[in-house]
Amino acid sequence: MELLELIKTRRSIRKYLDKRVEKDKLEKIVEAGIYAPNPGGRQGTKIIMLDNPKLIEEIGIVNANCENRNWCGRVVSNEQPSIIDDLSIKSGFYGCTALGIVCVPKERRTLVNVIGSAFVCAENMVLESYDLGVSSCIVGRAEATFENPQMNELLSKWGLDDEYMPLVFVCLGYINGEYPKIKARNEGRTMYIAEE
Ligand SMILES: Cc1cc2nc3c(=O)[nH]c(=O)nc-3n(C[C@H](O)[C@H](O)[C@H](O)COP(=O)(O)O)c2cc1C
Repeated sequence: MELLELIKTRRSIRKYLDKRVEKDKLEKIVEAGIYAPNPGGRQGTKIIMLDNPKLIEEIGIVNANCENRNWCGRVVSNEQPSIIDDLSIKSGFYGCTALGIVCVPKERRTLVNVIGSAFVCAENMVLESYDLGVSSCIVGRAEATFENPQMNELLSKWGLDDEYMPLVFVCLGYINGEYPKIKARNEGRTMYIAEE
Protein backbone atom coordinates (compact mmCIF):
# COMPACT_ATOMS: atom_id res chain seq x y z
CA MET A 1 0.00 0.00 0.00
CA GLU A 2 1.17 3.53 -0.66
CA LEU A 3 2.59 5.01 2.58
CA LEU A 4 0.11 7.87 3.09
CA GLU A 5 -2.78 5.51 2.36
CA LEU A 6 -1.38 3.08 4.92
CA ILE A 7 -1.04 5.84 7.53
CA LYS A 8 -4.59 7.08 6.89
CA THR A 9 -6.35 3.73 6.94
CA ARG A 10 -4.60 2.06 9.91
CA ARG A 11 -6.91 1.73 12.91
CA SER A 12 -6.57 0.57 16.52
CA ILE A 13 -8.02 -2.93 16.74
CA ARG A 14 -9.41 -4.38 19.98
CA LYS A 15 -10.99 -7.64 18.80
CA TYR A 16 -8.62 -10.44 17.86
CA LEU A 17 -8.85 -13.96 16.53
CA ASP A 18 -7.26 -16.82 18.40
CA LYS A 19 -4.67 -17.09 15.61
CA ARG A 20 -0.97 -16.57 16.20
CA VAL A 21 1.10 -14.11 14.18
CA GLU A 22 3.89 -15.78 12.19
CA LYS A 23 7.37 -15.37 13.71
CA ASP A 24 8.87 -13.81 10.57
CA LYS A 25 6.19 -11.08 10.69
CA LEU A 26 6.89 -10.41 14.38
CA GLU A 27 10.59 -10.09 13.55
CA LYS A 28 9.84 -7.52 10.85
CA ILE A 29 7.63 -5.55 13.24
CA VAL A 30 10.46 -5.43 15.81
CA GLU A 31 12.89 -4.42 13.07
CA ALA A 32 10.61 -1.52 12.10
CA GLY A 33 10.59 -0.45 15.77
CA ILE A 34 14.34 -0.36 16.19
CA TYR A 35 14.77 1.70 13.02
CA ALA A 36 12.66 4.54 14.45
CA PRO A 37 14.21 7.97 14.87
CA ASN A 38 15.80 8.35 18.31
CA PRO A 39 16.92 11.37 20.34
CA GLY A 40 20.63 12.12 20.06
CA GLY A 41 21.14 9.02 17.97
CA ARG A 42 21.32 7.02 21.21
CA GLN A 43 19.15 4.11 20.03
CA GLY A 44 18.10 3.97 23.68
CA THR A 45 14.93 1.89 23.38
CA LYS A 46 14.71 -1.89 23.73
CA ILE A 47 11.83 -3.98 22.42
CA ILE A 48 10.59 -7.23 23.94
CA MET A 49 8.32 -9.26 21.64
CA LEU A 50 6.14 -11.51 23.77
CA ASP A 51 4.65 -14.34 21.70
CA ASN A 52 2.70 -16.10 24.45
CA PRO A 53 -1.10 -15.51 24.45
CA LYS A 54 -1.65 -16.99 27.93
CA LEU A 55 0.93 -14.75 29.58
CA ILE A 56 -0.27 -11.76 27.54
CA GLU A 57 -3.77 -12.34 28.94
CA GLU A 58 -2.41 -12.42 32.53
CA ILE A 59 -0.45 -9.20 32.08
CA GLY A 60 -3.41 -7.66 30.23
CA ILE A 61 -5.72 -8.22 33.19
CA VAL A 62 -3.28 -6.37 35.46
CA ASN A 63 -2.97 -3.65 32.81
CA ALA A 64 -6.75 -3.17 32.59
CA ASN A 65 -7.13 -2.75 36.33
CA CYS A 66 -4.04 -0.81 37.35
CA GLU A 67 -5.67 2.59 36.87
CA ASN A 68 -9.16 4.07 37.10
CA ARG A 69 -11.10 3.06 33.99
CA ASN A 70 -13.38 6.09 34.09
CA TRP A 71 -10.79 8.81 33.61
CA CYS A 72 -11.54 9.52 29.95
CA GLY A 73 -15.10 10.87 30.16
CA ARG A 74 -15.80 10.14 26.49
CA VAL A 75 -16.30 7.19 24.19
CA VAL A 76 -13.02 6.03 22.68
CA SER A 77 -14.59 3.79 20.03
CA ASN A 78 -18.00 2.28 19.36
CA GLU A 79 -16.72 -0.12 16.68
CA GLN A 80 -13.67 -1.28 18.63
CA PRO A 81 -14.60 -0.61 22.29
CA SER A 82 -11.75 0.02 24.68
CA ILE A 83 -11.61 -1.01 28.36
CA ILE A 84 -12.99 2.46 29.12
CA ASP A 85 -16.01 1.94 26.86
CA ASP A 86 -16.82 -1.59 27.95
CA LEU A 87 -16.13 -2.44 31.58
CA SER A 88 -16.69 -6.15 30.89
CA ILE A 89 -13.46 -6.36 28.84
CA LYS A 90 -11.04 -8.22 31.07
CA SER A 91 -7.68 -7.64 29.40
CA GLY A 92 -6.18 -4.29 28.45
CA PHE A 93 -4.57 -6.19 25.56
CA TYR A 94 -7.94 -7.32 24.15
CA GLY A 95 -7.00 -10.94 23.44
CA CYS A 96 -4.14 -10.11 21.10
CA THR A 97 -1.77 -13.03 20.54
CA ALA A 98 1.55 -11.15 20.47
CA LEU A 99 2.67 -8.11 22.43
CA GLY A 100 5.46 -5.65 21.70
CA ILE A 101 6.83 -4.07 24.88
CA VAL A 102 8.92 -0.97 24.25
CA CYS A 103 11.35 -0.22 27.08
CA VAL A 104 13.43 2.84 27.96
CA PRO A 105 16.21 3.56 30.47
CA LYS A 106 14.58 4.00 33.93
CA GLU A 107 16.68 6.98 34.90
CA ARG A 108 15.65 8.94 31.80
CA ARG A 109 12.02 7.80 31.63
CA THR A 110 10.45 11.20 32.39
CA LEU A 111 12.34 13.08 29.68
CA VAL A 112 10.02 14.13 26.88
CA ASN A 113 12.47 12.92 24.23
CA VAL A 114 12.77 9.52 25.88
CA ILE A 115 9.00 9.10 26.14
CA GLY A 116 8.75 10.24 22.53
CA SER A 117 11.39 7.74 21.43
CA ALA A 118 9.28 4.86 22.78
CA PHE A 119 6.17 6.07 20.99
CA VAL A 120 7.86 6.59 17.64
CA CYS A 121 9.07 2.97 17.93
CA ALA A 122 5.47 1.94 18.61
CA GLU A 123 4.25 3.93 15.62
CA ASN A 124 6.78 2.29 13.31
CA MET A 125 5.64 -1.08 14.65
CA VAL A 126 1.93 -0.48 14.07
CA LEU A 127 2.53 0.76 10.53
CA GLU A 128 4.74 -2.19 9.63
CA SER A 129 2.24 -4.61 11.16
CA TYR A 130 -0.63 -3.08 9.20
CA ASP A 131 1.41 -3.38 6.00
CA LEU A 132 1.89 -7.08 6.81
CA GLY A 133 -1.85 -7.60 7.35
CA VAL A 134 -1.48 -7.77 11.14
CA SER A 135 -3.74 -5.59 13.29
CA SER A 136 -2.55 -3.63 16.28
CA CYS A 137 -3.32 -1.24 19.12
CA ILE A 138 -0.93 0.95 21.09
CA VAL A 139 -1.65 0.59 24.82
CA GLY A 140 -0.35 2.60 27.76
CA ARG A 141 -0.12 2.08 31.54
CA ALA A 142 3.13 0.13 31.21
CA GLU A 143 4.76 1.70 34.26
CA ALA A 144 1.70 0.99 36.44
CA THR A 145 1.40 -2.56 35.08
CA PHE A 146 4.94 -3.44 36.06
CA GLU A 147 4.65 -1.85 39.49
CA ASN A 148 2.84 -5.09 40.34
CA PRO A 149 5.60 -7.25 41.96
CA GLN A 150 4.57 -10.44 40.11
CA MET A 151 4.67 -8.61 36.79
CA ASN A 152 7.98 -7.00 37.67
CA GLU A 153 9.52 -10.41 38.34
CA LEU A 154 8.82 -11.30 34.71
CA LEU A 155 11.19 -8.58 33.53
CA SER A 156 14.20 -10.11 35.30
CA LYS A 157 13.05 -13.60 34.28
CA TRP A 158 13.08 -12.46 30.65
CA GLY A 159 16.55 -10.96 31.20
CA LEU A 160 15.67 -7.30 30.66
CA ASP A 161 18.58 -5.10 31.73
CA ASP A 162 17.73 -3.87 35.27
CA GLU A 163 18.28 -0.28 34.16
CA TYR A 164 15.37 -0.53 31.71
CA MET A 165 11.61 -0.38 32.18
CA PRO A 166 8.59 -0.86 29.86
CA LEU A 167 6.90 2.34 28.66
CA VAL A 168 4.43 1.34 25.97
CA PHE A 169 2.75 -1.80 24.65
CA VAL A 170 1.83 -2.73 21.09
CA CYS A 171 -0.95 -5.33 20.84
CA LEU A 172 -0.62 -7.49 17.72
CA GLY A 173 -2.89 -10.08 16.16
CA TYR A 174 -5.40 -10.89 13.44
CA ILE A 175 -8.63 -8.91 13.53
CA ASN A 176 -11.84 -10.65 14.52
CA GLY A 177 -14.49 -9.04 12.32
CA GLU A 178 -14.41 -6.26 9.78
CA TYR A 179 -11.60 -3.73 9.68
CA PRO A 180 -13.03 -0.30 10.64
CA LYS A 181 -13.16 2.43 8.02
CA ILE A 182 -10.93 5.49 7.83
CA LYS A 183 -11.70 7.97 10.62
CA ALA A 184 -12.56 11.61 9.77
CA ARG A 185 -10.10 14.18 11.10
CA ASN A 186 -11.09 17.19 13.23
CA GLU A 187 -11.02 20.51 11.40
CA GLY A 188 -8.47 23.23 12.11
CA ARG A 189 -5.55 21.07 13.12
CA THR A 190 -3.06 22.22 10.48
CA MET A 191 -1.49 25.46 9.33
CA TYR A 192 0.59 26.18 6.28
CA ILE A 193 2.97 29.12 6.49
CA ALA A 194 5.05 30.14 3.52
CA GLU A 195 7.38 32.99 2.67
CA GLU A 196 6.56 35.00 -0.45
C1 LIG B 1 -0.06 7.27 23.33
C2 LIG B 1 -1.23 6.38 23.06
C3 LIG B 1 -1.75 5.61 24.08
C4 LIG B 1 -2.85 4.77 23.85
N1 LIG B 1 -3.31 4.00 24.85
C5 LIG B 1 -4.33 3.18 24.62
C6 LIG B 1 -4.79 2.31 25.65
O1 LIG B 1 -4.24 2.28 26.75
N2 LIG B 1 -5.83 1.49 25.36
C7 LIG B 1 -6.43 1.47 24.14
O2 LIG B 1 -7.35 0.69 23.94
N3 LIG B 1 -6.02 2.29 23.14
C8 LIG B 1 -5.00 3.13 23.34
N4 LIG B 1 -4.53 3.93 22.34
C9 LIG B 1 -5.20 3.90 21.02
C10 LIG B 1 -6.10 5.12 20.83
O3 LIG B 1 -7.26 4.97 21.62
C11 LIG B 1 -6.45 5.27 19.36
O4 LIG B 1 -5.28 5.52 18.62
C12 LIG B 1 -7.43 6.43 19.12
O5 LIG B 1 -8.67 6.16 19.72
C13 LIG B 1 -7.64 6.72 17.62
O6 LIG B 1 -8.13 5.56 16.95
P1 LIG B 1 -7.35 4.93 15.69
O7 LIG B 1 -5.97 4.50 16.18
O8 LIG B 1 -8.19 3.77 15.27
O9 LIG B 1 -7.26 5.99 14.66
C14 LIG B 1 -3.44 4.74 22.55
C15 LIG B 1 -2.88 5.51 21.52
C16 LIG B 1 -1.79 6.30 21.77
C17 LIG B 1 -1.20 7.08 20.63
